Amino acid sequence: MVAGKVAIVTGAGRGIGRGIALMIAREGAAVVVCDIGASLEGAGTDASPAQEVVDEIKRSGGKAIASTLSIAEPKNADEIVKAALAAFGRVDILVNNAGILRDRIFHRMSWSDWSDVLAVHLNGSFNMSRACAVQFREQNGGAFVHMTSTSALVGNFGQANYMAAKFGIVGLSRGIALDMQRFQVRSNCIAPFAWPEKIAPLTVYLASDRAEGISGQIFGVRNNEIFLFNQPRVVRSIHRSDGWTPENIAQQLKGALGPSFTPLERSTDVFSWDPV
Ligand SMILES: NC(=O)c1ccc[n+]([C@@H]2O[C@H](COP(=O)([O-])OP(=O)(O)OC[C@H]3O[C@@H](n4cnc5c(N)ncnc54)[C@H](O)[C@@H]3O)[C@@H](O)[C@H]2O)c1
Repeated sequence: MVAGKVAIVTGAGRGIGRGIALMIAREGAAVVVCDIGASLEGAGTDASPAQEVVDEIKRSGGKAIASTLSIAEPKNADEIVKAALAAFGRVDILVNNAGILRDRIFHRMSWSDWSDVLAVHLNGSFNMSRACAVQFREQNGGAFVHMTSTSALVGNFGQANYMAAKFGIVGLSRGIALDMQRFQVRSNCIAPFAWPEKIAPLTVYLASDRAEGISGQIFGVRNNEIFLFNQPRVVRSIHRSDGWTPENIAQQLKGALGPSFTPLERSTDVFSWDPV
């Protein structure tokens, strides 16, 4: 489905990213496997996860190179794109998947819990997207797929940093989709639920030309289910021709808008049925 294309997959040494890199290679693309090999909390580095995925792709007859540069640094993102161009001559697909977690209840969340999570997820997604955008514009085509999370779209305890980063990625994707539509560039988000190998088929499809016309959307994958998420739109409105005061807002807002308030739910409340 992506024969002859070149894909950069971040966080491709393990988990969901690894599954995507292997499938994208099986479907015909050359792959840049980016992974610093950090712990779940973002500590340390290890070149072996990225190299093992490269070896596995090559053993199956595919083309791949590894990069162990951190995507959190803008200059590294440029280097990763340069490496892709040097090895394969073009870049067609970017999968922004790398991530770390620093779950803390909010009143104990430190500045570094906040900024380190934003640096990898949100800044990393910007850095890589921005570095690829120049190439996509020149080639007049390209596809971005970014991993978001139901933790952001719905909510979860102890993840204000991660929720902010993953919701930021939704805005980033939508902004890219609007700005780059004129260059035939598409940008979509996927919210994965565990089951790493189940995320790859939708990612490969969205990265392929078969997904022409699909951009700015948010999908979810849970085992064998694929979801399309809605995006915020006005659900109810009130107005007064003589304008609002705090007092008349206090008298009217809850009664008029309250029935449409979004409850303080978590993903598990919203996805209450067993996975298919
Ligand atoms: N697993 C899930 O159920 C789930 C649910 C919702 C969202 N997600 C999102 O999907 C993506 C993949 O999740 P996963 O569970 O496979 O993660 P994972 O922890 O298994 O893999 C993430 C990889 O990213 C790499 N990485 C971390 N920081 C990096 C950096 N600065 N530069 C380059 N690489 C870096 C790590 O070394 C790691 O191998 C993440 O963005 C995650 O937030 C996952």
